[in-house]
Amino acid sequence: MLILGIETSCDETGIALYHSERGLLAHALHTQMAMHEEYGGVVPELASRDHIRRVLPLIREVMHRAGAEFADIDAIAYTQGPGLAGALLVGTSVASALAFTLGIPALGIHHLEGHLLSPLLARKPPTFPFVALLVSGGHTQLMRVAAVGDYELLGETVDDAAGEAFDKTATLLGLGYPGGPALAQLAGEGRRERYKLPRPMLEQMQRTGNLDFSFSGLKTAVLLLARKEASDAATRADIAASFQEAIVDVLVAKSLHALDQTGLTQLVVAGGVGANRRLRERLDQAAAERGHAVFYPEFEFCTDNGAMIALAGALRLGAGLVGASLRPEGSPLGGLENPAYAFTVKPRWDLSAAA
Ligand code: KG4
Ligand code: ZN
Repeated sequence: MLILGIETSCDETGIALYHSERGLLAHALHTQMAMHEEYGGVVPELASRDHIRRVLPLIREVMHRAGAEFADIDAIAYTQGPGLAGALLVGTSVASALAFTLGIPALGIHHLEGHLLSPLLARKPPTFPFVALLVSGGHTQLMRVAAVGDYELLGETVDDAAGEAFDKTATLLGLGYPGGPALAQLAGEGRRERYKLPRPMLEQMQRTGNLDFSFSGLKTAVLLLARKEASDAATRADIAASFQEAIVDVLVAKSLHALDQTGLTQLVVAGGVGANRRLRERLDQAAAERGHAVFYPEFEFCTDNGAMIALAGALRLGAGLVGASLRPEGSPLGGLENPAYAFTVKPRWDLSAAA
């Protein structure tokens, strides 16, 4: 089965063609990072307008690269939420219109489901069940993944997401947007043991097994530190390194605890912060010591992309997780009254409810 994937939930237009037997055939991405940079964050209206400009040319490009025709596509998977409403609407309406024209199903995919299944695109994929650590700009969650569509939330952030903490701290240190990668780079030049920053909710985990996260206190601690200390380049690098180590400490400890609690041995790391090299180094080290295995998406599929959405669509279809109402019946065009083509977006959407 051939699935077209469309991702437009935030500041990346991602398109991909995934074949259930042959794997990923082609994918393309346009990032709006440079456009939003001068505003210091994503401007939703600009994001939507740019998705409109990019989505059709990118679909054509991916079709061309894969040597595929529209008639070859069996279903279209699109990010239905969570994300920016206007941005989501671009991908959702294009997917629905195209599916209507072709008389094929349009599948609304949960963005985080895409992220947590993305390591399955890697050369060495995990097998179900596994624990997933989802660390993106908007979310920080630990999930028990038993199968496609079977997700149990083990813990999540009560305030800032890990990526958000990276981005805000980067701003404090005068780094550009998005701050995560820039902060990680600066941290590589600093001394991580110079400042002892808080490891929020770690002690509580030891006492009660709680797997929730909290990063806003850490951000405040960095703010106070940055105000107090001289802001020479070496000190800023030391603050960055100490901050990164605190976040990584918490993410590693909670992930290991989640493996212990569930009795599972495979950990999947997904989302933009999963690209962080120090996090990977520490997780690999801890896993090797305990005989556990850690799986990451390929670097290019850590951040938002269309491949993970096409993959999630293919896996959901394969698992029979698509309701009958999504399959057009009768005439090849299904008919305008067909509920499969009435679309809506879900800017806020709980992943457990998407199962
Ligand atoms: O998954 P993603 O592309 O978008 C969301 O769905 O949020 O994640 C983006 C987040 C941003 O906060 C970015 O700063 C962070 O991931 N990020 C990193 C690194 N690369 C991206 N954070 C830390 N270290 C990195 N190397
Ligand atoms: Zn994402």
